[in-house]
Amino acid sequence: MKIAIGADHAGYELKGIITKFIEEIGYEVIDMGTGTSCSVDYPDYAEAVAKAVSEGIYERGILICGTGIGMSIVANKFKNVRAALCNDLFTAKMSRLHNDANILCMGARVIGTGLAKEIVKTWLTTNFEGDRHLKRLEKLNLIERKVID
Ligand code: RB5
Repeated sequence: MKIAIGADHAGYELKGIITKFIEEIGYEVIDMGTGTSCSVDYPDYAEAVAKAVSEGIYERGILICGTGIGMSIVANKFKNVRAALCNDLFTAKMSRLHNDANILCMGARVIGTGLAKEIVKTWLTTNFEGDRHLKRLEKLNLIERKVID
């Protein structure tokens, strides 16, 4: 599984730590910036990652800003993207089991490094349950077609 990762200045440091961690647990990760801690605009990095996931270039994405809120708002504007803001383990797990989330957003100013790693590991290793949740995703896709097309 190839994972695209992006962050603004607030998430830059955590992005480096998470990138290394993802490689250590055996996944390929593509860093889409930002490349320094200088102030940047989160929509630029959310767009890069969400577009790549939307187009199927990468299966999953991870976005980090101060709270994770800005990243999730932008990412969910892209077709086929189900971005989940998860700053705890329970929502990270549920976002995969019930929502088949393909982008994980986290807030570097909300959570510590240890929890962020656990969230990422849980999110990457939990499979979508399918079943009754499939028809809900189908409804979501219908809404997306009505709104975007
Ligand atoms: C940047 O100061 C901050 O607004 C951004 O990282 C993010 O938290 C936005 O949602």
